Amino acid sequence: MTKAPTELAEEVREQVQSKKAYRAVIERLNKASVDKHWEAYADVPWDDPDFQVDKNDPRWALPKFDRLGATEWYQSQPPEIQAQIGLWRVGTAMKIGLQFENLLKRGLLNYAYRLPNNRPEFRYVYHETTEECHHGMMFQEFVNRTKMPIKGMPRALNLVAQLAPLIPLVSTELFFVFVLGGEDPIDYVQRKSLKGGHIKHPLEETIMKIHIAEEARHISFARHYLKHRVPNLSGPQRRILGFTTPIILGVMARIMLSPPGPMVRRFHIPADVVRAAYRDDPDHMAEVANSVGKIRDLMGELRLINPVNKRVWKLFGIWDEPGRRRPVRSDHAKAA
Ligand SMILES: [Fe+2]
Ligand SMILES: [Fe+2]
Repeated sequence: MTKAPTELAEEVREQVQSKKAYRAVIERLNKASVDKHWEAYADVPWDDPDFQVDKNDPRWALPKFDRLGATEWYQSQPPEIQAQIGLWRVGTAMKIGLQFENLLKRGLLNYAYRLPNNRPEFRYVYHETTEECHHGMMFQEFVNRTKMPIKGMPRALNLVAQLAPLIPLVSTELFFVFVLGGEDPIDYVQRKSLKGGHIKHPLEETIMKIHIAEEARHISFARHYLKHRVPNLSGPQRRILGFTTPIILGVMARIMLSPPGPMVRRFHIPADVVRAAYRDDPDHMAEVANSVGKIRDLMGELRLINPVNKRVWKLFGIWDEPGRRRPVRSDHAKAA
């Protein structure tokens, strides 16, 4: 395997009412991990002259329909600054991605550590951890090549995040909600960027395609695990899971789709520009809500949404009726 995938893999979606059906899904995922996997330093042509990263390359500039890219302030910057801001944002997304996946791997290993013999999840979790190791190496290598002082999660959050690998010791179901809370919004943004043709640099495109292909399996596993396990939870366990899910999702989606503080400071982006492009923008809020749409639908399917926790979803601005997505104005602008 020396090439990135040409087609974007889709998730496996199956009902897993019986134990047999659940095991069959895991077996398919195991086989897919053996048949199609990519290695950070074997399958990405880092030394290819076309794959080099130049921070002033105009291909990094944000497109006009991007919320920040559309602002007058951004448009009035010289081309090199426009490119640097675009690259900074890509690098930050990768850095946050690798930090999240680091926590995820530690959590997966904590989960696998306690599994008894002959549990089908053991092998899959090891496949997933292996793949995440390669993602971490790809992302960090990219960040290094930007030669920019890119930081990931804000410091306060970094501290709280260290608790995440311990979640499976308390509840494995909650842990896989956390997994989806990170993987689904990243996947949503990456698929949208690729399908919209917004990725111009071949290195970014290769990394993204590899990532999407493997994440489709990770997301499938987490979804099927929840479908298999949640129906057997007790009433109080369901209530706790239903209540904590929107909190985890609300916080995580916001972090992943927010402007990086160090970038704002470095380029002196005025506060009113940041506010207009992110916080006050209804499109931005719609994107945040849509990025957790698939998990929200799953929670509805698992009957984990009730009138009390629906208010928590609303409080975080991520509620919509199951199956519904909010219209995003900039999508129409692009199509026109
Ligand atoms: Fe990953
Ligand atoms: Fe993953």
